[in-house]
Amino acid sequence: MKKVLILSYISIFACDAVTIKEKAFSYDDVLLIPKYSTFQSRQDGTTKTRLTKKIWLNIPIISANMDTVTEAEMAIAMAQLGGIGIIHRFNSIEDQVLAVKRVKRFKNAIIRNPFTINQDETLGKAKRIMTENHVTSLLVTDESNKLSGILTSRNIKFLENPNLKIKEIMTPRDKLITGTKDIDIEQAKELLVKNKIEKLPLIHNDNSIAGLITSKDIFNKTKYPQAAIDEKGRLIVGAAIGIKDDAIERATALLEAEVDVLVIDVAHGHCQQGIKVLKTLKEKFSNSQIIAGNVATAQGTRDLIQAGADCVKIGVGPGSICTTRITTGCGYPQLSAIIECAQEADKFDVPIIADGGIKNSGDITKAIGAGASTVMLGNLLAGTDESPGMTFVKNGKKYKVIRGMASFGANLARNEKTTDKNNAEKYVPEGVEALIPYKGSVQEIIFQLIGGLKSGMSYCGTHNIEDLRAKGDFVQISASGIRESNVHDVNELAK
Ligand code: XMP
Repeated sequence: MKKVLILSYISIFACDAVTIKEKAFSYDDVLLIPKYSTFQSRQDGTTKTRLTKKIWLNIPIISANMDTVTEAEMAIAMAQLGGIGIIHRFNSIEDQVLAVKRVKRFKNAIIRNPFTINQDETLGKAKRIMTENHVTSLLVTDESNKLSGILTSRNIKFLENPNLKIKEIMTPRDKLITGTKDIDIEQAKELLVKNKIEKLPLIHNDNSIAGLITSKDIFNKTKYPQAAIDEKGRLIVGAAIGIKDDAIERATALLEAEVDVLVIDVAHGHCQQGIKVLKTLKEKFSNSQIIAGNVATAQGTRDLIQAGADCVKIGVGPGSICTTRITTGCGYPQLSAIIECAQEADKFDVPIIADGGIKNSGDITKAIGAGASTVMLGNLLAGTDESPGMTFVKNGKKYKVIRGMASFGANLARNEKTTDKNNAEKYVPEGVEALIPYKGSVQEIIFQLIGGLKSGMSYCGTHNIEDLRAKGDFVQISASGIRESNVHDVNELAK
């Protein structure tokens, strides 16, 4: 993949002691060069792409592993829309595993291991299980672990006494409509509609539980035909780990919970300890898919790939809430980083992620035109209904919070949960906390982003992501070119 970059000038400076590399570019410094197109409609392009060596997505968008961006709700929405969410790691191992399990259970046309409760347990315990696991029903079992009823939110709606026995309030077995273990979705749908029910327990011949089908899951299956799913039909999900203390324990627990991909999340991923953790994980779990990062150079990309990375995450300091470049003086302009890292990764047939600094759909097209297979978004997905955190009103406008994972606030919150409570004042932040306007549903945001990307693909005359990666060429623009690109000489009505 050879990229053409038409430059207005190149400066190279070197002396014995110091080298200044040739000019490097950010998204705003360039435009993709329009090319002959055979599109009938701007939306004709397809957006299927590789996340890792083995995992494919239907849209090239990943929600960032930040605690104001991705927990279970965002990950579910992202996978339903064809992308993936990476559950952040700034929580206990148990909480992160629970979030992964929530996603894996969400759209499972057939839930093979539904939550159960024994009929002699109490309403209090049932409510606890339902709340902790975000489910609205439990299958009830008898002393020989056979199906004896179902308890749904309808059964318990107005009941308050926590000591009530489940067998007194459940819908009993003789009133249940059930299906066999190998029922198909169409037959299940018929039974649900005919009997006006929302849950269909599945049983083996001996009346032991074989699964559960819910009308919500069937509805979701048809509503989100683009959903990114695993071989068992479940939504896919990723989770981040660090490189210190509990890294291997956390990774092991996440893989046991059947997470699809791990992200080794280090600000400076081109480091000895990061590579050590990557190698250990690849030795221990040879079938796992592991994304490693972040790096910004060809050398960093090569070293991670040779240590076993199935995908490399690119970006040092471009993020909207990052202060790494200001605090440390280090980084690499993102567009050039993507071009240089993609050229290296292509030699090994390993995809890369462009992480951070994406401000609009045009930047997504540029990132892919530069060689990325996917993009990771923080800012653009924060402030949505699905991002964690409260919505609040300031001066009549609704906001949520976004924060860098290396910000002071994120570090303080982390220390409260760990043993390192006394070290907060010694911390040197490399990120900030900020208000972000409330944006509504993530589905609408993704719709606009993918619409813009597809339109961009049509301008480049490329019909799919691989084509855009291979054929995207850029021209550098000047300050007046940037001004010309933005709305100018009018007062916008919406502002
Ligand atoms: P955007 O621009 O989409 O970027 O908001 C999200 C990415 O920013 C990175 N990130 C950080 N970088 N200090 C940093 O230097 C931080 O505190 C920080 N928090 C997140 C991360 O790569 C994320 O995906």
